[in-house]
Amino acid sequence: MRGPIEELLSGRRVQSSTRYLVASSLCFILLHLGARAAEHPVPLGTNPDSTVCIQCHQDKAKGKFVHTVIAAQGCSACHTVISKKKRTLVSLVLPPNELCFTCHEKVNDKVLHAPYAQGNCIVCHSPHASDWPKQLLAPPQELCMGCHVRSRLKIDPQKRTATVPWGITLPLDQFQGMPSLGLNQALTANHPVEGHPITGPNTDLGKDAPDITCLSCHQPHHSDRLNLLPPGFATATALCESCHREIDP
Ligand code: HEC
Ligand code: HEC
Ligand code: HEC
Ligand code: HEC
Ligand code: HEC
Ligand code: HEC
Ligand code: HEC
Repeated sequence: MRGPIEELLSGRRVQSSTRYLVASSLCFILLHLGARAAEHPVPLGTNPDSTVCIQCHQDKAKGKFVHTVIAAQGCSACHTVISKKKRTLVSLVLPPNELCFTCHEKVNDKVLHAPYAQGNCIVCHSPHASDWPKQLLAPPQELCMGCHVRSRLKIDPQKRTATVPWGITLPLDQFQGMPSLGLNQALTANHPVEGHPITGPNTDLGKDAPDITCLSCHQPHHSDRLNLLPPGFATATALCESCHREIDP
């Protein structure tokens, strides 16, 4: 079934392909390599390597957590750079939603988290570098709540997009079927059962236990269990009991 969003998108594609006809043949070829090519604001000469790129884009190679590929393979692992005369075109070697799967296997589990299945890795990870482990764009809890707490998501009904708190905008149809959590006003509790904390010290396991986060009970990518529950627990009750250890056997 074609919804209004699909109609809208296909309408746009027809429009821009008319423009492509008058674009240069170089541009044409790049566009058909799969990813959108853009003219780089500065001509870069032939075969610029990563050290040239980093002169102006330091932030892409520096940070607390840098993607291993950057040092190992350089920018060209993901960006194609073609210079001709005084123009330089840059594009991604593949569209963003296919790019990451060229090196990271797509796991085919029973339950796939929608943004993972869609290849929307860069809604949660920087392809370059960030201040959080695994190049996450925010602490995990903030990522999860950015989509699953309705008041945190900014929806633009005209453009049919939604913007997460860390600034990435996606088409609304990518949020289809997304459950919102009915948390308390302070956004600290009421999930998965009333009064249950989703943050703060895991008092049931003693004071050295890591704090409770969404990742205490969910996988971010995929799982063989409904609701992305972690592996290794035969039932949801077994998950509960991993913290709520019975005192009287
Ligand atoms: C002389 C400075 C300079 C150098 C060298 C440079 N860039 Fe850029 N680049 C810029 C500026 C300025 C922009 C526009 C502002 C921005 O997006 O940061 C830009 C934008 C970009 C963009 C975004 C383009 C878009 O339309 O989305 C990409 C991708 C990019 N550069 C990649 C590279 C790569 C890869 C290299 C090395 C081959 C490189 N740049 C070298 C200055 C430079
Ligand atoms: C693992 C793949 C990958 C590598 C390696 C990589 N990039 Fe990117 N880069 C991307 C993707 C994907 C985007 C598009 C992000 C988006 O659409 O929001 C991007 C976007 C950019 C942009 C424009 C948007 C922005 O975030 O400012 C610049 C500039 C850029 N890259 C520079 C570089 C430079 C310089 C290097 C090498 C030091 C590099 N990239 C290495 C995947 C990569
Ligand atoms: C050219 C190959 C390549 C591409 C493309 C690529 N990666 Fe990676 N990535 C690697 C390698 C190699 C490592 C280091 C693996 C390791 O240390 O086990 C890595 C590590 C990572 C890590 C950290 C893993 C850890 O355990 O610390 C994340 C997160 C990640 N990549 C996400 C992405 C995302 C998101 C994309 C797409 C924007 C992407 N990668 C594209 C090769 C790639
Ligand atoms: C909803 C947010 C989200 C999306 C979307 C997402 N990730 Fe992750 N990813 C995470 C979080 C959170 C972690 C850290 C898990 C942890 O520390 O236990 C992680 C960890 C990783 C790691 C480290 C090794 C591992 O598996 O724990 C890699 C590699 C990775 N992600 C790649 C990807 C790729 C490739 C995609 C897209 C196909 C992707 N991620 C999509 C949130 C996300
Ligand atoms: C203490 C464990 C625990 C924590 C912490 C937790 N969850 Fe859950 N979550 C569950 C369980 C169990 C279910 C299945 C509930 C059910 O079937 O009624 C669930 C279900 C969900 C669902 C599906 C709800 C639906 O109606 O379909 C979403 C979305 C979700 N959790 C997101 C989150 C996010 C986001 C966080 C962090 C803010 C989080 N969870 C923290 C245990 C937890
Ligand atoms: C970019 C938005 C986005 C982010 C960020 C996000 N989710 Fe989701 N999530 C979705 C969408 C869309 C669905 C509904 C489609 C589906 O069932 O996969 C979903 C579904 C879920 C479900 C129900 C899965 C099922 O069994 O049907 C759980 C649990 C969940 N998310 C947990 C998390 C956790 C934990 C995080 C943080 C690591 C997180 N989400 C971050 C968009 C997001
Ligand atoms: C990651 C550890 C963890 C897991 C897993 C966990 N809990 Fe909890 N739970 C806690 C902590 C910490 C508290 C707050 C302190 C307390 O009351 O023991 C709590 C509190 C509760 C409360 C009391 C809420 C109130 O109103 O005070 C109930 C009921 C509860 N949990 C049920 C469950 C159920 C059902 C599950 C499985 C779906 C579960 N818990 C899984 C850590 C956990």
